[in-house]
Amino acid sequence: MTLLSKPALDDEDLLFRLLRQLDLAPGASQRATATALKVSLGRLNSLLRAAADAGLITVDQRAGPDKRQRFAYALTTRGAAKKNQLISAFLKRKLSEYDALHAELTGTKSSISPLSDRTRLMNNYLTPIPELYVSYDSAQKMKTEAANLTSWDLTPRQICDLELLMNGGFNPLKGFLSEEDYNGVVENMRLSTGELWPMPITLDVGDDFAQSVEVGQDIALRDQEGVILAMMSVTDKWEPNKANEAEKVFGADDSAHPAVNYLHNQAGKIYLGGPITGIQQPVHYDFRARRDTPNEMRAYFRKMGWRKVVAFQTRNPLHRAHQELTFRAAKEAQANLLIHPVVGLTKPGDIDHFTRVRCYEAVLDQYPSSTTSMSLLNLAMRMAGPREAVWHGLIRKNHGCTHFIVGRDHAGPGKNSAGEDFYGPYDAQDLFREHQEEMGIEMVDFKHMVYVQERAQYEPADEIEDRENVTILNISGTELRRRLAEGLEIPEWFSFPQVVSELRKSRPPRASQGFTVFFTGFSGSGKSTIANALMVKLMEMGGRPVTLLDGDIVRKNLSSELGFSKEHRDLNIRRIGYVASEITKNGGIAICAPIAPYATTRRAVREDVEAFGAFIEVHVATSIEECERRDRKGLYKLAREGKIKEFTGISDPYDVPENPELSVETENVEVDNCAHQVILKLESMGLIKG
Ligand code: PPS
Repeated sequence: MTLLSKPALDDEDLLFRLLRQLDLAPGASQRATATALKVSLGRLNSLLRAAADAGLITVDQRAGPDKRQRFAYALTTRGAAKKNQLISAFLKRKLSEYDALHAELTGTKSSISPLSDRTRLMNNYLTPIPELYVSYDSAQKMKTEAANLTSWDLTPRQICDLELLMNGGFNPLKGFLSEEDYNGVVENMRLSTGELWPMPITLDVGDDFAQSVEVGQDIALRDQEGVILAMMSVTDKWEPNKANEAEKVFGADDSAHPAVNYLHNQAGKIYLGGPITGIQQPVHYDFRARRDTPNEMRAYFRKMGWRKVVAFQTRNPLHRAHQELTFRAAKEAQANLLIHPVVGLTKPGDIDHFTRVRCYEAVLDQYPSSTTSMSLLNLAMRMAGPREAVWHGLIRKNHGCTHFIVGRDHAGPGKNSAGEDFYGPYDAQDLFREHQEEMGIEMVDFKHMVYVQERAQYEPADEIEDRENVTILNISGTELRRRLAEGLEIPEWFSFPQVVSELRKSRPPRASQGFTVFFTGFSGSGKSTIANALMVKLMEMGGRPVTLLDGDIVRKNLSSELGFSKEHRDLNIRRIGYVASEITKNGGIAICAPIAPYATTRRAVREDVEAFGAFIEVHVATSIEECERRDRKGLYKLAREGKIKEFTGISDPYDVPENPELSVETENVEVDNCAHQVILKLESMGLIKG
């Protein structure tokens, strides 16, 4: 369907003005709108009719004696999306008119051309970046209408994506990718317009929801409390080839990559695409003063007179080496510095953003005043290395930055399932360099800074000429975690005392942290018995509350409505994982003892728990033959007779754990001994004091 089939709509400038006017003053009369647009009532009338026919505006009856004021007009979601599409075209035309006029009057080129070079315009702060929000009045109206529409409850990752779509952080995107744009992005990092865009920003939904939505329909997008944040005109619906997406975007279809794991095990099966109309920003209750939209950032740089700005992306606390290198980068580029940490979603297991922001605030005082600023970015990272670096650069350019620091292994996802790095250490820098001219933001290489003891200062590792004669000190991330975990000293040359004290508060020594012991194995393998013995031993030691989430107890109290299909088992285990992660977060010990037959579900639980503390998977490796021989509950007999269906090990699968923290044999071994093996493991991990 083409929305502009009516000749009356051919004048795109006028259509844009009309849509903008109705956005600013929904419900205004024809006469008021005609006056604002400076067109005759007749012209306006035919335009309004055509726009209503094309579904861009709604027409409401008004009460009152004046016949010429009988109708009131407002934008539809589609109209708002159209307005957003027309902004760029409108701006481009206006600027070329300005250029022509400038040339005619002065005989010289104007400084704001060339128009195709949006980057220069933006870097000069001459244009604010386009946002996808409608006016407050239109938003109120749309919200009421949207209450009756089909709505999708956004996932945490989708909320992050939506926020950056709406506020222009993902400019030039105007919504979740269409199928054509998606294919272009996956295959060669290009939108269908030819513009560079490396990351698929997609609205993944479940099969059932997808079936309830038709292409051409408008849907409401809600946050997790049900607040309507945006409307979306669905233009595309398709089932993506996820394996191909994983290969092309993340470099391998390997679930050891967090984004590939998310793609296969969390993201919905179907993607919806279409333009977005922003109604309101997602609500943040934390660090509000530290969050800025791209336009707020641009306005700030303008106000401060910062012409060049180097952005530093980070998902980790800053220590002295980072402070040194960021300040050096800024000096090198003769620019100001923006510390731009990600507070949306980072790598599972990272330090929570509350702690990190308190750390950043402490470090900020260490920079010379007025040289450096800090703003929080609600981005959901994908850990996609090279593509991620280009994506990060584009986002920072949209925020008005001119330079971007790219380090060794930028946004690296860790090791693949063969134990090797997913990307080469400098792949991200190479890809960024290849595209930086087109992106309009320059890369500053990250220097590896080390501490030279004799000179009591940080220096770039590759610039130390007398390295034979000096003592070079460095503490790796792993070593830092170990020292924190064991409550050991962290020297002042390495970090700032305030940072260390914040980290110690959030990461107390392991022996006082919460943790989860997760037993898995066949029915009758001995999980519950060992779990009970372990619970008693831990309670005897004291210090932390202990909770046992045994399979049978959970099924009685938490999951009484569930059966044993894959779907129900997954739900059961995810519930256990949720409770265990809460216990772990609050410093307790959770002992779980379900069958948990599926590796992917166990992995998901591990991720939930590891966000807060250690996860110890214990495989109770009693063979199925032995379990059947014992048949304590008589269930194996019933399963063999077909009286119990989907019985694990008999008529249902069990994925043997590949890398459990511990595997215990129960045949010819006392229960007490099995529980003791777990205690020894916990001691060796520093979780309990010997
Ligand atoms: S799962 O797969 O993790 O959700 O199972 P779980 O919650 O641990 O429940 C397992 C207990 O339920 C009994 N039971 C069955 N087990 C496996 N398959 C089928 N079809 C089944 N039907 C009932 C069985 O007694 C298990 O108890 P445990 O404690 O493991 O011996």
